[in-house]
Amino acid sequence: MEDAWVYILSATSVLFLLFLFILQRSDKRNLPPSPPSLPIIGHLLLIKEPVHRTLQSLSHRYGPVLSLSFGSRPVVVISSPSAAEECFTTNDLVLANRPRMLAGHIMGYGNTTMGTAHYGPHWRNLRRLTALEILSPHRLAGSLAVRQEEVRLLLRSLYEAAGSAGGGGYARVEMRSRLQELSFNIIMRMVSGKRYFGAAVNAGDAEMAGQFREVIKETFELSGTDPGDFLPALRKVVDFKGRERRMVDVAKRSDGMLQGMIDELRSRRDGGQEVESKTMIDAMLSEGYSDDIIKGHVLTMISAGTDTSAATIEWAMSLLLNHPDVMKRALAELDHVIGRDRLADEADIHKLPRLQSIINEALRLFPPAPLLVPHESAEDCTVGGFDVPRGTMILVNAWAIQRDPKVWDDPTSFKPERCEGLEGDHSGRLLPFGMGRRSCPGAGLANRVVSLGLAALLQCFEWERVGEEPVDLSEGTGLTMPKREPLEAMCKARECMIANVLAQL
Ligand code: HEM
Repeated sequence: MEDAWVYILSATSVLFLLFLFILQRSDKRNLPPSPPSLPIIGHLLLIKEPVHRTLQSLSHRYGPVLSLSFGSRPVVVISSPSAAEECFTTNDLVLANRPRMLAGHIMGYGNTTMGTAHYGPHWRNLRRLTALEILSPHRLAGSLAVRQEEVRLLLRSLYEAAGSAGGGGYARVEMRSRLQELSFNIIMRMVSGKRYFGAAVNAGDAEMAGQFREVIKETFELSGTDPGDFLPALRKVVDFKGRERRMVDVAKRSDGMLQGMIDELRSRRDGGQEVESKTMIDAMLSEGYSDDIIKGHVLTMISAGTDTSAATIEWAMSLLLNHPDVMKRALAELDHVIGRDRLADEADIHKLPRLQSIINEALRLFPPAPLLVPHESAEDCTVGGFDVPRGTMILVNAWAIQRDPKVWDDPTSFKPERCEGLEGDHSGRLLPFGMGRRSCPGAGLANRVVSLGLAALLQCFEWERVGEEPVDLSEGTGLTMPKREPLEAMCKARECMIANVLAQL
C-alpha cells in the first residue's frame, strides 16, 4: 500500500514538472536572456554583495537587458545607456511604480512615503509639495544661511584640530563623521529648524540626535533586500533572522521621535511663536497633511538626503587626495574666481566648472545609489526589443553603465575633464540621480551642499594623504555605496585664508 502511494506521488510530481516545462516552452513572450535558475528560489543564490558588481558580471554574459527571478519576483536588470534611456523616456510612466517591499510597508508608513509609494495621485501630490514648497529654488534660497553656517562649523572644527597639531603642522582628521554631521544638521534644520549635533546643541537634543542617527542606520540596514520579499510563502512561517520583528521595533522608535518633532513645532505655531524661516514640517502642517504623512516625508528626506551627500564629498576628497594635480587645478580655479578673502558661495557654483566636473566624475565612479531605487512595471512593455511583463522589478545598474568601456574611455580612471559640459546630458550614460518622473527631487540641494562643502575644504586647507600609499577606494556594503574605510586625511590651515576667513569663523 505504501509503495502505491510513493508511486502515485512520484508520478504526480513528474507530471507537474512536465506541465511547468511545457508551460514555460509555450510562453511566446520574448523575455530577456536569463541564467539557469533553481526552482522556488530562482537566482537568489547568484546574488552576492556588492550586488552592482555581481549584476555587472551577469550582464557581461547575458547582455545589457537580462532577466532574473528573485524567488517569486521577476526582475529585469538594465546595464546599457540606451536601455536606461528607453526605460525613462518611452516607458517612464509604465515604469514609475515602486515594488512593494516589507521594509516600505513596516517602516515607510504602509508604502505611503514619496520614495516607496506607487505612481498615482498621492505620490504626485507629495512630489508637487516637495518641488514647490520644500526644495524649490525659492525655498532653497531661503535656507542658504543654514548651509553656510553648517559649512563654517565644519571648517571651525577642522581649524581647531589643525591648530592643536602644533607648530603649524598637519593634523590627522577623520572625515566621514564630520561630513555626516554636516549633511545631517543641514537636513534637520531645513526639516525642523533645529540642529542636533555639535556646538550649541543642548544635551537633550544631542541625545535625541544620537538615537535618531541610530534609528536611521538601522532603517537603512533593514531596507536592503529581505528574503521575505522574494519568498512570501516562507515569510508566513519564518521571520528571517528576526528582521520583521526588528523592523517593527525600529519603526516604533522612529515614529516616537518624529511625532515629538511635529508636536514641538505644532505647539510653537499654536503658541503664535515666530519662526525664523518656514521649515518643511511647518509647510506640511499648513497644507493640512496628516501626522503619518508628515512623519513619512521627514524620514524620507533625512534618509535620502543625508548619507548620499556626505558620501559624495567623501569620495570626491578621496579621489582628489589620490590625484594632487587635479586638486591643485581645482584650487587654482577657486583662487582665481573667488579670491583668498572669502568662501565660495552658492551663487558662485556655476562659475566653477572645474569643481563641478570633479563632483560629476566622483558621482560617475562612485554613485551613492549604484542601482538607483528599484522601479516596477505597471503594464507589459518592451525594453531593448524584449518583453517586460507587468509587475517586474526593474534594476538600473547606473554603476555599471557609468563604467562601461563602450561608453567611457578608460572608464575606471578619474578624469574630471571628461565631464565638462555634460550637465543636461540625457543619453542615459551619466545618471547618478536617475532620470524621468522618479528621478531624485533633491539633486539641486545635493549639488549645493556638495559644492559648498568641497569648495570650502579646498579653499581653507592643504590636504595630504596619511601615508605614502593611495587612499583605498574599495566600496563597502550598504544602501548608499559607502567607502569601505572611512576617509582619514592630514589637513593644515592655508596661511592665506587664516586672517580673513578661518580666524573669523
Ligand atoms: C548626492 C546626493 C544624492 C544622490 C546621488 C541621490 C540619488 C537618488 C537616486 C538615484 C534616486 C532614485 C531615482 C530613481 O528611482 O530612478 C533618488 C531618489 C530620491 N531622492 Fe535622492 N539623491 C541624493 C540626494 C538627495 C537629497 C539631498 C534629497 C532630499 C533632501 C533626496 C531625496 C530623494 C527622494 C525623496 C527620492 C525618491 C523619489 C521618488 O521616488 O519619487 N535625495 N535619489
